[in-house]
Amino acid sequence: MSDEIVLIVNGKPHTVQAQPETPLLYVLRNELGLVGPHFGCGEEQCGACMVLVGAEAKPTCRLPVSEVRRTRITTLEGLAAEDELHPVQRAFIEEQASQCGYCLNGMIITTAALLWKNPHPSDTQIREALDGNLCRRGAQLRILRAVKRADALYSEAGGR
Ligand code: FES
Repeated sequence: MSDEIVLIVNGKPHTVQAQPETPLLYVLRNELGLVGPHFGCGEEQCGACMVLVGAEAKPTCRLPVSEVRRTRITTLEGLAAEDELHPVQRAFIEEQASQCGYCLNGMIITTAALLWKNPHPSDTQIREALDGNLCRRGAQLRILRAVKRADALYSEAGGR
C-alpha cells in the first residue's frame, strides 16, 4: 500500500505517493523527473545514484523513501544556483573529468560533500572519499585534478 510522503528536494517540497520501502532513486527519477542520479549496481556499491541527504553524500538505490521524509535532499540538478554552475560542476567540466560520464553524478555529489566538510583535502583524503564511486573508463586522474580545481575555485570565490 502506498503512503503520501513529503520530500524536500532541491529546496522545494514535493508530495509523492509511494510505498515506504521504494528506493529514493526511483522516486527521484520516475516521479520527480530528476535524472541526474543514475541506476548502476542497485547494491550501494558504485555511487552512480548518489545525492546529498543533508550534507552527506548517500547512495539512493536502496534507501527507502520513507527514511528521508522532510529531510533536505539535493540532487545534481539542485547544486547549481539559477543559471550558474556549482564550482564542482565547473571544475569537472574544465578538467574534462569524465569519459562515458556515467559515474559523474556520484563523483560530483561526493566531491561537493567532501569539500564542504574538508576544505583542502589531501590526495589520500580525496581518494578515500571517492572510494565508493566507480569509474570504469580511466578518468581517475582527471577526477582527482577536478576535485583540486573545485577546491581552488571555492577559495577564489572566498569560501564555500
Ligand atoms: S546504483 Fe546505487 S550505488 Fe550503484
